[in-house]
Amino acid sequence: MKNKKILLIICGGISAYKSLEVIRGLKKKNVSIKTILTKSGKNFVTPLSISSLSQEKVYEDIFSAENEAEMDHISLSRWADLILIVPATANTISKLSYGLSDDLASTVVLASNKIVFLVPAMNVRMWEHKSTQENLSKLKSYGYKIIGPEIGDMACGEYGKGKMSEPSYILRTIENYFKNIEKNKKYKALVTAGPTKEFIDPVRFITNKSSGKQGYEIAKSLRDNGFQTTLISGETNLDPVEGVKFISVKTAEEMFKETLKNLPTDVAIFNAAVADFKVKEINSEKIKKNENLDLKLEKNIDILSNISNHNSLRPKITIGFAAESQNLESNSKKKLDQKNCDWIIANDISDKTIGFDSDDNEVSIFYKNKESEKLLKKKKSLIASEIVNRVISELN
Ligand code: CTP
Repeated sequence: MKNKKILLIICGGISAYKSLEVIRGLKKKNVSIKTILTKSGKNFVTPLSISSLSQEKVYEDIFSAENEAEMDHISLSRWADLILIVPATANTISKLSYGLSDDLASTVVLASNKIVFLVPAMNVRMWEHKSTQENLSKLKSYGYKIIGPEIGDMACGEYGKGKMSEPSYILRTIENYFKNIEKNKKYKALVTAGPTKEFIDPVRFITNKSSGKQGYEIAKSLRDNGFQTTLISGETNLDPVEGVKFISVKTAEEMFKETLKNLPTDVAIFNAAVADFKVKEINSEKIKKNENLDLKLEKNIDILSNISNHNSLRPKITIGFAAESQNLESNSKKKLDQKNCDWIIANDISDKTIGFDSDDNEVSIFYKNKESEKLLKKKKSLIASEIVNRVISELN
C-alpha cells in the first residue's frame, strides 16, 4: 500500500474511536492519509488525536476559508486513491444514497469518482431497517464497497448485526483491494456492447434492440478491477466509459475489424447485439418511396464464433451472451458448443422486468467445463461485478 493516498471520513458513532487504530495501521504501511471529521464524529474523537496519528491536518468544515485556500473540497476528492468511511453511520449512508451534500464529507464523496469503502456501524434494528438496506443496495449498485458489519454485542447493550468490523479486518480488506488491482493490471480485456446497424441506404438501417447497459457496466467493472479495458460499442445513448479505451462503431463489419485490431486480450466478453443479417447491396442514394423495394439480405460475420475459433487471437477466456425467448438452457448450451466459447451468459428476454432497457438483469452462466449457475435479479452493475469476479478467479 506504499504511496497510496486514502481519504478517511470519520462519522459520529461510538465505534469512531476504532478509526484511530485504522489510521495507525495505514500509517505503518506508509499510506498517506487525509481525514475529514464530521460534526457528529467530533463528539467521539478529537482532531488532535487524528492529526497526531495521521501527521496531517484534519478537515472539518466545508465553509472554512483556510481549508478551501489550502485544499478545496474538489482537490481533496481528486487527491485520494480511495475514500474510506469509518464508521459509516445510518445517517451518512442515507445521505450518500440520496446524493446530499450538506457538509464537507458528503460533498467530497458526491464530487468524487474514486472508489468508496463504507464500514457501517449501527444498532441492529437500524441496520435491519428496510430504508438502510435499500440505501445500501442503491450505493452498492453505484459501485460502493461495504466492509462488514459483524454480528456481536453492541455498545448500546443489544446483540445482533451492526457491529463495526475490526480495524485489522478493515486494513486487510483495503490491502487486498489494492493488491488485486495491482495483480490485474497485467490483464487486457475487450468488451463488445450495444447494437450494430446494417444500412439499407444513407438514412435507413436494420438494427437490434439493445441499450448497451450490461456491456458498459462490465467494462466499468473490469476497469475498476485494474484491467486494461477496450470497449467496442455500437451506437447507444450511453456516455463512453472513463478510463476505458472506447471505440465507437456502427456496423457488424466495423465491430469485427476493431475487434481484430484490439486482440489478443486475456478475456473478451461479446455482449453486443450484432445484427445477424446485412443488406447485400447498400443503396448509395436514399430510396424513394415510389420505388420498388426488394431487400436482399446476407448473413453477417459471427464475431464471437470467428474469434473463438481463431488460431492466434483467441483470448484465454472467450465469453458470449445469449438472448433467448425460449428454451434458455438448451439454446445456450448449443451456442456454447457451436461458437466454441468458454462461457455463455444467457438472458431470458421473455421476462420484461429485466434485460433490454431495464437497469436490472438476471442471467444464467453456462460454462464449458463446469456446472452452470444463475445470478439472480439485481442491478446490471452488480451482475457485471459478479461476472468480473468470476473472470478474475478463472484467470488466477
Ligand atoms: N454474436 C456475434 N456476431 C454475430 C451474432 C452474434 O459476435 N453476428 C455474438 C453476440 O455478441 C453474443 C452471441 O454471439 O455474444 C450470441 O448472440 P445471439 O444473438 O444470442 O445469438 P445468435 O448467434 O445471433 O443466434 P440466434 O439469433 O439464432 O439466437
